[in-house]
Amino acid sequence: MKFDSSLFRRKSVAQLSHDSETSSLKRTLTAFDLTMLGIGAIIGTGIFVLTGEAAAGTRDALGAGPAITISFVITGLACGFAAMCYAEFASMIPVSGSAYTYAYASFGEIIAWIIGWDLILEYAIGNVAVAIGWAGYFKDLLQGLGIHLPPYLLASTGTELVQLPNGEWHPLTGALGTRLGDQISSMPHEISLLNLPALIITFVVTVLLIIGIKESARTNSVLVMIKLLLVGLFLYFGFPHFNPSEHWQNFTPNGWNGIMSGAALVFFAYIGFDAVSTTAEETKNPQRDLPIGMIAALIVCTILYIAVSAVLTGMVSLDILANEKPISAALNAVGENKVAFIISLGITLTMPTVLLVMQMGQIRIFYSMSRDGLLPKNSVG
Ligand code: ALA
Repeated sequence: MKFDSSLFRRKSVAQLSHDSETSSLKRTLTAFDLTMLGIGAIIGTGIFVLTGEAAAGTRDALGAGPAITISFVITGLACGFAAMCYAEFASMIPVSGSAYTYAYASFGEIIAWIIGWDLILEYAIGNVAVAIGWAGYFKDLLQGLGIHLPPYLLASTGTELVQLPNGEWHPLTGALGTRLGDQISSMPHEISLLNLPALIITFVVTVLLIIGIKESARTNSVLVMIKLLLVGLFLYFGFPHFNPSEHWQNFTPNGWNGIMSGAALVFFAYIGFDAVSTTAEETKNPQRDLPIGMIAALIVCTILYIAVSAVLTGMVSLDILANEKPISAALNAVGENKVAFIISLGITLTMPTVLLVMQMGQIRIFYSMSRDGLLPKNSVG
């Protein structure tokens, strides 16, 4: 194939289709697998970790209060438009490079290269954040079993940790700083060397992906079913404590500024549906199944997010939610300790699906860029 020498040379849809047809990847995924991959990528740290701080606010950001439900609607709508664009492109150009490939076909090589690296950063940074969020839950599980890792193995390199009066070590987050105020200076401090649980879970997910896409998708589907059950369990046990006349009295404590600041924070909760489009060359009928997978996953997650945030803010006051485990904090506060424990255990088991789909997307972006000569050929073996 001939390209001109400009940085804006494009690849035709015919050439991209040829690349896809001669791909060495096996077509095994169905619309159901893709929907499950989408939900697996979307539901994670965002809802299980960030919702509390987005509602209650932090030292650096205004909280939305119970109006966090509106933040979820706004962000869901914005992502819905993005998902429709993805769906349109994915059915026109069913190639594994996702937005990188769409940019190659529409704008040319230099823009594609930039978008490719944007995606690599999105998946890398998203993966890091989720692995750290997961490590927090895993640490609690170990502590429940009487196993205490040293504090310098519990947070990302260079994180400042403080030891609370109950003996637990916590990263010095904005919310914790606000809660403890001046007391902090008299508490023992430690600087973390590395987050060992986060490193280990990333390694385990990598091994699963090396075994194969079908096995990874199957594991993902089972874990996503459990994750949906957990959300259902929370709604079932949380709803009887829903008391809007008490907790929704001040629905928008910081007005639109709080709602938009909450929306910016919970945007993270929606990231991941785009990774589904990187499986185009492993999907049996990509033109039909990719749009179904992405849009169905987004609709299911948006409904669940709105329901969870409404019940959460309607069952307890905001100060109980101002931490990185709002779901278990709220359930414990209303006396549902057993359910809180089961949900924490389930989150620890199922949150790695987000890592699975992001790492899967990452590899496929490398694959497509390498095939086009924008990364060294041997970077994908
Ligand atoms: N949407 C993903 C999460 O919330 C990244 O963990």
